[in-house]
Amino acid sequence: MLPIAILASGSGSNLQALLDAAATDPSFGARPVLVLSDRPDAKALDRAAGHDVPTAVVEWAGDRGDFTRRVCEAVEAAGAEVMVLAGFMRILGPEAIRRFPHRILNIHPALLPAFRGAHAVTEALEAGVKVTGVTVHFVDEQVDHGPIVCQEAVEVLDDDDEATLHARLQEVEHRLYPAAVKAFANGRLAVAGSKVVWR
Ligand code: GRF
Repeated sequence: MLPIAILASGSGSNLQALLDAAATDPSFGARPVLVLSDRPDAKALDRAAGHDVPTAVVEWAGDRGDFTRRVCEAVEAAGAEVMVLAGFMRILGPEAIRRFPHRILNIHPALLPAFRGAHAVTEALEAGVKVTGVTVHFVDEQVDHGPIVCQEAVEVLDDDDEATLHARLQEVEHRLYPAAVKAFANGRLAVAGSKVVWR
């Protein structure tokens, strides 16, 4: 079983999908050993407690290098070998990529490389795209960037607003992220240069 840390800043609905998959799918292959948040009030921490998964809070104190080091130390102290970012709203510095090479996954509510950053859903609506979607990728030194594991398209409807579109994106996220983590934990993902090859 691959020990994973799940990092979340907010509601943690993706965290919940991952915890549920770990609890119900015998071939999931990954065991959550830590839920880490940068916010002591994150609902994600309650969800972790509901699944008896240990939690840690690492608060941002203004220095990215120091924050990154403290996050890496907490993850390693819990025995986790992989970081799964699930709505983690802080950017990790290069030290995290060095300590966890091709071992940090992220989910993003757009079809990368389109609409990177924290406002992907709003920007997709403003751009008038007819299709957006969800991306799971390995994290590299750039924000919302790195080898893409999988993507799924979601149609943008004429009467969509930020809430309705994000809700449909999240339905996809809750299916796609557990599937991607399961594939990784079962050794099916290989990074070849800037690409991910499924085996
Ligand atoms: C998700 O839409 C994810 O793609 C983005 O942050 C959001 C987190 O939502 N990175 P939740 O906290 O998992 O509900």
